[in-house]
Amino acid sequence: MDTTLTPATAALNVELLRKDFPALHQSAHDHPLVYLDNAATTQKPQSVIDRIRRYYESENSNVHRGVHFLSQLATDAYEGARRTIASYINASDPREVIFTRGTTESINLVASSYGASFVPGDEVLISTMEHHSNIVPWQMLCERRGCTLKVIPVSDEGEIIYEEFERLLSERTKILAVCHTSNALGTVNPIQRMIRDAHALGVPVLIDAAQALPHGPMDVRELDCDFLCFSSHKMFGPTGVGVLYGKQDLLESLPPYQGGGDMIESVSFEGTTYNELPHRFEAGTPNIAGVIGLEAAVKYLQKVSPAAISSYEAELTDYATKTISSIDGVRIVGTAKRKVPVMSFLVGDIHPYDCGTILDRLGIAVRTGHHCTQPLMHRFGIPGTARASLAFYNTFGEVDALADGIRKAKSMLMR
Ligand code: ALA
Repeated sequence: MDTTLTPATAALNVELLRKDFPALHQSAHDHPLVYLDNAATTQKPQSVIDRIRRYYESENSNVHRGVHFLSQLATDAYEGARRTIASYINASDPREVIFTRGTTESINLVASSYGASFVPGDEVLISTMEHHSNIVPWQMLCERRGCTLKVIPVSDEGEIIYEEFERLLSERTKILAVCHTSNALGTVNPIQRMIRDAHALGVPVLIDAAQALPHGPMDVRELDCDFLCFSSHKMFGPTGVGVLYGKQDLLESLPPYQGGGDMIESVSFEGTTYNELPHRFEAGTPNIAGVIGLEAAVKYLQKVSPAAISSYEAELTDYATKTISSIDGVRIVGTAKRKVPVMSFLVGDIHPYDCGTILDRLGIAVRTGHHCTQPLMHRFGIPGTARASLAFYNTFGEVDALADGIRKAKSMLMR
């Protein structure tokens, strides 16, 4: 396919953007690297790498702890990043942005702190397509508090069965915790409608947005979600840092998550009082370089037009779906109407691991296995899939390379 012919490609100028990502320009097993494992983690633009390097070269110091020059510099950079990120998701106030280690920790924080008041009979509502990180913390909470985990089923296409969601949602539901976008199938859920319906019954909503932010910005006030969790490394920033957004009044009502330095107001052996938001949820020295790197990633994304990303990715999704599903014997798992460019697939009776290994030898990086969604794989009656997950820097040519690789795997392995 001649990529220059599509208006969305021209609007995005993918070839130019690819130059910003040094890791994309290397060989793997003597083939040009085709990186299609973006749902696992994305590559980083040079501006993110440079920003982290600059921090360590000339700003490295601890935050909120020193009167000295460097500590002020680091604190200003760290709190400036909070403001940038709050404004990127349209939070009402930077204090609504808590830095965590990632989506997993953000969800654990809410399950632990918000869930501390749950009592037997209370219900937590999730969906079948959740990542383990949005299942296990709730299971652990339900075990601790004697609550019940309810699960919204998904259709053969990999969409939430809305009537089932409506049936399961009730006054007993203490929280609805769902992904915006499925990491394993690419399904984009009808989040706005789900939030509206949950709120109609007074149920707060936590959104796992880890797989949504890489594909476009989100507006927490427009969504009216109560909590939003995401990871820096999935959106072109560094690993080891993520965000919990929470509505201010809700966060203020929660007990702290972890105890330690910075989250306190005063400590004595008789008792401790806690710091105000956001610090009361950020015990210990935070991932300062990571937060500053995440800000650089957000600034990078702000420069690339979200509308151009979204129309380019829609074309990429279409093209990848058609190209891969037209290969004889290939089945795409997850065919929702609204999807991001995530293709989970099976090739005849070939084990996904074998398929992934052959693709790897051809320089093509995909993830194989259950994608941390074992219950979802169980729903489809499969142990796992091979998954190609694309970002805006992937090209139509790379989709063609994947299709050629799948054909090769077929010819080598299919009986
Ligand atoms: N959650 C990441 C993935 O889907 C690791 O691959």
